[in-house]
Amino acid sequence: MTTKLLLLNGPNLNLLGTREPAIYGSTTLDDIINACQKHVQNYKVELRASHSNHEGELIDILHVARRWADGVIFNPGAYTHTSIALRDAISAIGLPVIEVHLSNIHAREEFRHKSVIAAVCLGQISGFGWQGYILAIDAMLRHLGVLSDLD
Ligand code: DQA
Repeated sequence: MTTKLLLLNGPNLNLLGTREPAIYGSTTLDDIINACQKHVQNYKVELRASHSNHEGELIDILHVARRWADGVIFNPGAYTHTSIALRDAISAIGLPVIEVHLSNIHAREEFRHKSVIAAVCLGQISGFGWQGYILAIDAMLRHLGVLSDLD
């Protein structure tokens, strides 16, 4: 059986590459998606990538994922710190979600220290740049039993 993952990115992440490279690096969102696609080629995994700058659209994408995905890797951008609606969507869909941030949100401005979605996610990966998405995929595949603990 093929495991299906959603890789979801929120506001302003479409500007990666040129957006504050000292914080977010010079890798573009397409580069990250390509690296993730290449990574999952090693496994029986289908990865679908989506991006939106709009809170409601991110919620719609999560609702649709409920019907096809086994797990979600999600960088909600600034909505991480504000969106109870996204938190409720994550709770509502009942899928495992791993929260990813390129930067270490705990080492930045105080308003970024709080994630309102963290408590309804499987876990949070923050501060490892684009590599965080690869770490999240592997953690999700272990959670889903596609990779064994010692793989
Ligand atoms: C971010 C961190 C957020 O605080 C910020 O608003 C972003 C990107 C990250 O990946 O480091 O847009 O989620």
